[in-house]
Amino acid sequence: SGSTPPAGPAGSAAARSVTVRVPAKVNVQLAVGPPRPDGFHDLANVFLAVGLYDEVTATAADELRVTVSGPDAAAVPTDTSNLAARAAQLLAARHGREPHVHLHIAKDIPVAGGMAGGSADGAGALLACDALWGTRTGTDELLRICAELGSDVPFSLVGGAALGRGRGEQLTALAAKGPLYWVFAVADGGLSTPEVYGEFDRLAADRAVPDPDPSPAVLDALGSGDPTALAAALAAIAGGNDLQPAALSLRPSLAGTLAAGTAAGALAALVSGSGPTCAFLAPDEPAATEIATALETSGTCRKARVAQAPAPGASVVS
Ligand code: C5P
Repeated sequence: SGSTPPAGPAGSAAARSVTVRVPAKVNVQLAVGPPRPDGFHDLANVFLAVGLYDEVTATAADELRVTVSGPDAAAVPTDTSNLAARAAQLLAARHGREPHVHLHIAKDIPVAGGMAGGSADGAGALLACDALWGTRTGTDELLRICAELGSDVPFSLVGGAALGRGRGEQLTALAAKGPLYWVFAVADGGLSTPEVYGEFDRLAADRAVPDPDPSPAVLDALGSGDPTALAAALAAIAGGNDLQPAALSLRPSLAGTLAAGTAAGALAALVSGSGPTCAFLAPDEPAATEIATALETSGTCRKARVAQAPAPGASVVS
């Protein structure tokens, strides 16, 4: 069931090459519950897609191959641990065909940064292979494959803003008015998501962790597109990211990054997802540029990027 997304002229079965553009995300709110029997945590995950993009190009080939370009390409695996390769394998298996395709990832999303860059590549490869192969998989089936690939992958496919329940894969679209201007401070080196969740459990060992719920004030502010209201709503829930103390515990230097962005005029400063990228909400575009410059000269991050939100989900560009 479900409708088939438009493939576009290059997405016909005869196409030799299909490119899909996929956004990064920031977790405006990430409420984390206690660990479940399966090791995952139930979440109330307020996802917002932001305008930093990876591009995944699928080209007909006689074996499954992954290549990566971009400044941080060396940090990206090219074996089947790459979610793009896994996506091709899962889609091919669904349709009883070989996963023979060359996937090229033009990487602009920070690697292992808490911005769902690996998930973006999984969603992008899935859409690109479906268009290249002419397999015309319905949206519901694509979303099921995404959820198999990882908790954040369904959101990478749909983009915009959404509430993720369960482990983050059960999505409900949210109203989000734009543009909101965000600044992202990219750290040296990544953080492992399982390690950050493990640190969350360690820090929470002595207290009862409540069931996660979204803040109505955060959802209202997202819908209104008012950055001041959103910052106030986040301040009222201690910043919004329950993983932030765990990320700071594993990487204490992030406190300096958060302080530098706040001193430069950010309305809100938070670790993005499991980190170590830090996200700053700016009042407007000029302020975002100033915050980015101040962060880069502060010496508390490797580089800073400005992005607008909400951004559209994965889409075929050629
Ligand atoms: O789903 P994904 O592969 O992205 O998850 C990576 C790891 O992050 C999981 O193995 C788990 O340790 C942790 N995780 C979690 N609860 C979630 C999502 C991820 O504990 N809701």
